[in-house]
Amino acid sequence: MAILRLDVYVPLLCVFSLFRCQLCSVEPPLNHRPIIGILAQKTSYRFENFGHSFVAASYVKYLESGGARVVPISIDLTEAQYQKLFYSINGLLIPGGGANLVTSEYSKNAELFYKLALQANDHGTYFPIWGTCLGFEELTVITSGRKLLINTDTSNVSLPLNFTKGAQDSRMFKNFPVDLMKALAVEPLAANSHRWSISVKNFTSNTELRNFYKILSTNMDSKGIEFVSTIEAHSYPIYAVQWHPEKNLFEWTKKKDIPHTANAVKMASYMAEFFVNEARKNWHQFFNKTEEENALIYHYVPIYTADISIYEQIYIIDNKAFS
Ligand SMILES: *[C@@H]1O[C@H](CO)[C@@H](O)[C@H](O)[C@H]1NC(C)=O
Ligand SMILES: *[C@@H]1O[C@H](CO)[C@@H](O)[C@H](O)[C@H]1NC(C)=O
Ligand SMILES: *[C@@H]1O[C@H](CO)[C@@H](O)[C@H](O)[C@H]1NC(C)=O
Ligand SMILES: *[C@@H]1O[C@H](CO)[C@@H](O)[C@H](O)[C@H]1NC(C)=O
Repeated sequence: MAILRLDVYVPLLCVFSLFRCQLCSVEPPLNHRPIIGILAQKTSYRFENFGHSFVAASYVKYLESGGARVVPISIDLTEAQYQKLFYSINGLLIPGGGANLVTSEYSKNAELFYKLALQANDHGTYFPIWGTCLGFEELTVITSGRKLLINTDTSNVSLPLNFTKGAQDSRMFKNFPVDLMKALAVEPLAANSHRWSISVKNFTSNTELRNFYKILSTNMDSKGIEFVSTIEAHSYPIYAVQWHPEKNLFEWTKKKDIPHTANAVKMASYMAEFFVNEARKNWHQFFNKTEEENALIYHYVPIYTADISIYEQIYIIDNKAFS
């Protein structure tokens, strides 16, 4: 009997442990309570009366819709506080808007988090960064150390994406349903709202950019300038879009050409879920529950701004909540 049992159990045990090891090496445990930081930027003339810095509510809702919680990142913290915050959150979103790409607090904070993210990833800690519009431009400035932008006719136009060959097996798009990829390639679903772009010419002739990022899509403006519209880093979880997936879901101004079709909404939801899934691979956490609660966006009350801006709502961010 004992021998018979060994015959049965030993091979079973071997199979089981093999299976278990494979699971371990392929899929590290995921963090299903991800918290993502969004960089604030200085308020400009229309918002100045409300406060010192802001985050558009559409970016908050976008990440929340993907299953994450949000921590707004004030422009008034000390370097030590930013460092502490980096080791507390699971990813960073650098939003669109209007800020100087070299001298603003927004740009300095983007660069600080970028450097910390490269360091962390180099040491085996997965930390994803996402840039949208101005955030896309900011990432190209940080990576190349230069402003290589050109003025384009793209301030109010929705476009299909011209996918590169690399898009199909990119981390960003490889799990998109085939019909959605087709829609994205032929329907004008990507809302462009930028005066500056990086041309394919400038991007590909810059060694740092070429070596760091893979181009996933390009577009052409009405003047025939071909610009880069979607990128992902070759060896880091860093992603950026020159267009605005969060607007498809959450911005309704008629001053801008923003697609709200079923495919536009589906595409935007996939983008949000993709990035939140990236943040699930990070296990940074706040020092304790109180610190976490105090940092979250739920402490802030959005302000109605649809009458004076292209945003339905914004959050005014100060440095009271996080210390
Ligand atoms: C390339 O970048 C420079 C700035 O460094 C800019 O003046 C020029 O217009 C850009 N050219 C193209 C084709 O994008
Ligand atoms: C896609 O690329 C082609 C060729 O460069 C260009 O003619 C076309 O305008 C581009 N389409 C979009 C939507 O940017
Ligand atoms: C932007 O485009 C939309 C749709 O084409 C148009 O209705 C709107 O007037 C445009 N806005 C501006 C400021 O030109
Ligand atoms: C959480 O940590 C802070 C220090 O960052 C401390 O002041 C506070 O007492 C701690 N709260 C709890 C509930 O442990």
